[in-house]
Amino acid sequence: MIAAPINGKKLSPELFLRLRDFIYDKSGIFFPENKLYLLEGRLLNRLNDLGMQSFNEYVNHVMGYSNQAEELTRIYNLVTINETYFFRFPRQLEVFSKNLLPDLLKSKSQTANSRIKIWSAAASSGEELFSLAMLIKDGLGSRLENWDINLKGTDISKSILEHAKKAEYGNNSFRGYENKQYKEKYFESIGGRLKVKDDIRDMVEFDYLNLNDVSAIRQNRNLDFIFCRNVLIYFDKEMKQRVIDAFYDQLNRGGYLLLGETESLHGINSKFKVEHFAGTFVYQKA
Ligand SMILES: C[S@@+](CC[C@H](N)C(=O)[O-])C[C@H]1O[C@@H](n2cnc3c(N)ncnc32)[C@H](O)[C@@H]1O
Repeated sequence: MIAAPINGKKLSPELFLRLRDFIYDKSGIFFPENKLYLLEGRLLNRLNDLGMQSFNEYVNHVMGYSNQAEELTRIYNLVTINETYFFRFPRQLEVFSKNLLPDLLKSKSQTANSRIKIWSAAASSGEELFSLAMLIKDGLGSRLENWDINLKGTDISKSILEHAKKAEYGNNSFRGYENKQYKEKYFESIGGRLKVKDDIRDMVEFDYLNLNDVSAIRQNRNLDFIFCRNVLIYFDKEMKQRVIDAFYDQLNRGGYLLLGETESLHGINSKFKVEHFAGTFVYQKA
């Protein structure tokens, strides 16, 4: 018997608008009109898994009160782009470990404050937060025990967070990064993959957080660094402003916001002070 073609199920422009507005309302992730086929493609398998015959049926299912939370979780897992790798944007990380962190440690030790809070706000599978942990451990050496350093990574995709918690990576996670010393020091080989060693894993924690939920952002208080890299591109201007305003409030005075290599706050927020370094810049709460 020949199976019915799955591509017989189409997301009409009207249904696309209903669905994308709903996803935007819940997550801030925005699909412009030219992304109709992308959304259709990502959700088609889910439709088939549910045995549904049309997108109309699926959209009603998503919006139905009883299925909403579970189905949205599945949608986020399917539509988010989790592209990340170890030591991404090395120049910025170098500025973090050689300039920003040492200066912060110095000013904190003058006030006998030993607490440092760092948040990776779109952590994906964890490479970003683990890179920070490795840089901190390397930079502080035996002084690490004098500090209470809190490294937290959050993401909207629960499936990608499971990956982060497992802390096992293939070659793809090391693209753009060829530091053998780090690999030997902080990873162990398991069945052809590399697993982050426990001393680094013990420094970090991962949790779910939807950046569209400002009250959830506000649970993260007294932050010294927020890394929010390569996620703002998925939001529209209003959402970006909401998120960045909330970040500003949650940072300590003198705290830093670090964005992705091609991102800026131009036209979004003018409260932050820009601090320039050769090859990069960072935002500081003055
Ligand atoms: C391209 S990855 C960036 C990962 C890492 N920060 C980096 O720069 O390598 C973007 C991540 O943002 C997450 N994301 C998208 N919308 C989000 C939202 N509303 N709240 C929290 N995370 C979100 C996605 O699940 C994805 O893991």
